[in-house]
Amino acid sequence: MTTDLGVEPTPLALLLLGRQSDPASERGTACPGELPPASDPDLVDRARAAKDALGERLFILGHHYQRDEVIQFADVTGDSFKLARDAAARPGAEYVVFCGVHFMAESADILTGAHQQVVLPDLAAGCSMADMASAEQVAEAWDVLTDAGLAGDTVPVSYMNSSAAIKGFTGRNGGTICTSSNAEVALRWALGKGQRVLFLPDQHLGRNTAVGRLGLSLDDCVVYDPRKPAGGLSVEQLRDATMVLWKGHCSVHGRFSLECVHDVRRRLPDVQVLVHPECRHEVVGAADLVGSTEFIIKTIEAAPAGSTWAIGTELNLVSRLAKAHPDKTIVFLDKTVCFCSTMNRIDLPHLVWALESLVDGRVVNRIEVDPRTAADARKALDQMLALPAR
Ligand code: 13P
Ligand code: SF4
Repeated sequence: MTTDLGVEPTPLALLLLGRQSDPASERGTACPGELPPASDPDLVDRARAAKDALGERLFILGHHYQRDEVIQFADVTGDSFKLARDAAARPGAEYVVFCGVHFMAESADILTGAHQQVVLPDLAAGCSMADMASAEQVAEAWDVLTDAGLAGDTVPVSYMNSSAAIKGFTGRNGGTICTSSNAEVALRWALGKGQRVLFLPDQHLGRNTAVGRLGLSLDDCVVYDPRKPAGGLSVEQLRDATMVLWKGHCSVHGRFSLECVHDVRRRLPDVQVLVHPECRHEVVGAADLVGSTEFIIKTIEAAPAGSTWAIGTELNLVSRLAKAHPDKTIVFLDKTVCFCSTMNRIDLPHLVWALESLVDGRVVNRIEVDPRTAADARKALDQMLALPAR
């Protein structure tokens, strides 16, 4: 491929453009094909026409962090729990187009029927947090627990933000998946079953839920660092821990600091601070309310006119909430712009390209989890869906 200037793009440039793969990561393989230019004024009409042409054969799911230009075409919007639950809601749809990130599309493939094909409009839409736990690293951690004689009473609980391989590991070892909206029930279930939890890959969600919701202490939690031998932990530390937290985090939510909370409280004295549980523990501790993206939306919907909110989650969602609720003051918790760059990769050109390809009978960017991994992962996902409602 050459650019208009006749130069060969570098592999990094291609990856950033969504046209190259990073085989070592959760992002999957390359995004083939030519995209319509973002400047095409007919993109909205083209997306609508393709959607109409596909009719009932198409089901579009959109995560709350998606751009406005994309979310307007979603049949269902939601947080990752709602989208996992709704993925199988249209068994009649041949194509499930997932406007979200790679691990969400993998889960949709696992949860939908064999006759349905899941499409991710840009395969470079991964998740840096999910990339922080590879299948090999997790297998090694399990070996460490096994060698210490602790695997038998350790229950893996994996955040939805993980690859299908990690979900498969979780299902094989009697664990469950959780999302930010059901982490508390998932942990209560797991601790009713075993002595300790191996929580993958978001240390913050694990710690915030264990300490903030279950009343455990910070001393009950240890952090397993996959880059250190035996996770950097002694057998005693592992044995005494209730929560073995994987050293992973979200780079978007990790940006919110205690200083952001203090600063917004100084600027807006009546403000209520509402954050996602992927934020750091001290940020969650200083906030007024914490919850998943769906919880954040419902809280703002229920809030009285005239109330003031600082929200610590991805910017597309916060901007959309501010636009939808002009009777409330809604500000972003950080002063700097903070989109999830991989969620943002799904833009209108990619959506149009994916939909028009389907109209032409070409399934592009199909996400297909191998049957063995899918069967194991399905056990862990089904376990999550069977947990009691919050
Ligand atoms: P939700 O579980 O709230 O959908 O969040 C998913 C996510 O990726 C947050 O960064
Ligand atoms: Fe992953 Fe963070 Fe983006 Fe969510 S916001 S998809 S956890 S990188």
